[in-house]
Amino acid sequence: MPVITTIEDLRQLARRRVPRMFYEYVDSGSWTEATYHANANDFQKIKLRQRVAINVENRTTRSEMLGQSVSMPVAIAPAGLTGMQCADGEILVARAAQEFGIPFTLSTMSICSIEDVAAHTSAPFWFQLYMVKDRDFVRRLIERAKVAHCPALLLAMDLQVVGQRHRDLKNGIRSSRRFTVANILNILTKPRWAFGMLGTRRHGFGNLLGHVKGVDDMNTLRHWISREFDPALDWNDVAWIRRQWKGKLVLKGIMDMEDARLALDTGADALIVSNHGGRQLDGAPSSISSLKAIVDAVGDKMEVHVDSGIRSGQDVLKAIAMGAKGTYVGRAVLYGLGALGQAGVAMALEMIRKELDLTMAFCGETAIRAVTSKVLLQAKA
Ligand code: GLV
Repeated sequence: MPVITTIEDLRQLARRRVPRMFYEYVDSGSWTEATYHANANDFQKIKLRQRVAINVENRTTRSEMLGQSVSMPVAIAPAGLTGMQCADGEILVARAAQEFGIPFTLSTMSICSIEDVAAHTSAPFWFQLYMVKDRDFVRRLIERAKVAHCPALLLAMDLQVVGQRHRDLKNGIRSSRRFTVANILNILTKPRWAFGMLGTRRHGFGNLLGHVKGVDDMNTLRHWISREFDPALDWNDVAWIRRQWKGKLVLKGIMDMEDARLALDTGADALIVSNHGGRQLDGAPSSISSLKAIVDAVGDKMEVHVDSGIRSGQDVLKAIAMGAKGTYVGRAVLYGLGALGQAGVAMALEMIRKELDLTMAFCGETAIRAVTSKVLLQAKA
């Protein structure tokens, strides 16, 4: 096996080890994938100022997100089907995050359930909620997150309809046609993954199975999911959630200044500038290029976080320099998970932390909390 030193190395290994339909579910965007690629490419365009002869002996990446102390301003982004990248995936990622001292966010569309993750970890994790038409289910899901002591609820604002992802359609991931000869032959070439899956009973959507009326197997569940995302979600629904959830509320998927101002009016604690990793509106700008205007509009009144395109410690530094209080990584850790399980996630996080720390040193900075746009050569993406 080659020496692994980059997230790209982990991605290549995950591509070999994870069945194509699940690997491509992660490594894809909607339609032309222009926004998916712009998310990472726009980070590359931002240049850093190299500074010298400043004492950078004692450095710290420690910061706070939502009032919680974090070893670096990076949380794990919610991702559906994490438990299909590797058996028991959500529990493994949550454990790696816990050991690293950063928050893990569990998706509604996870394989391991809220209760299961709570039972197998000790650090409190955050929960990401999808608004579905069945409001009773939503209400009960919120109650379950409270029982599990989740301190923060991330409400997905950008999934009223699902973006068209060609690779998912070709692989049949959402259809009953997914067990095609091609997919089965492909799985047979991934023995490590397959043995892991044989050793666990966590194969379905853990938060849904047994909790939605009339749904008792994966087939009926698939129909429920395709019917249930709620295109009617509006700001009244956000107010409804705010009334039920007294913990931290984070609105995820804000890309527009007008929406940012409306988000502020809801009394939410934070928003996430996010185009859902380029998986929803292809043709939207990158998240990092949208960050500054939103920070300028609401950043003094609520916490602004950013996700989409963050693959390195330098990306984290740039996002913080542009005014984000925190960042999220999804694909970077999912590649680690698919490649090497929990150890791969830990590796990905350590790569990010180390690059962040060294880059701070090169820029003459000793504390991430004190970093401002002065580290950037030009403060635009
Ligand atoms: C769901 O959130 C997805 O992006 O697939």
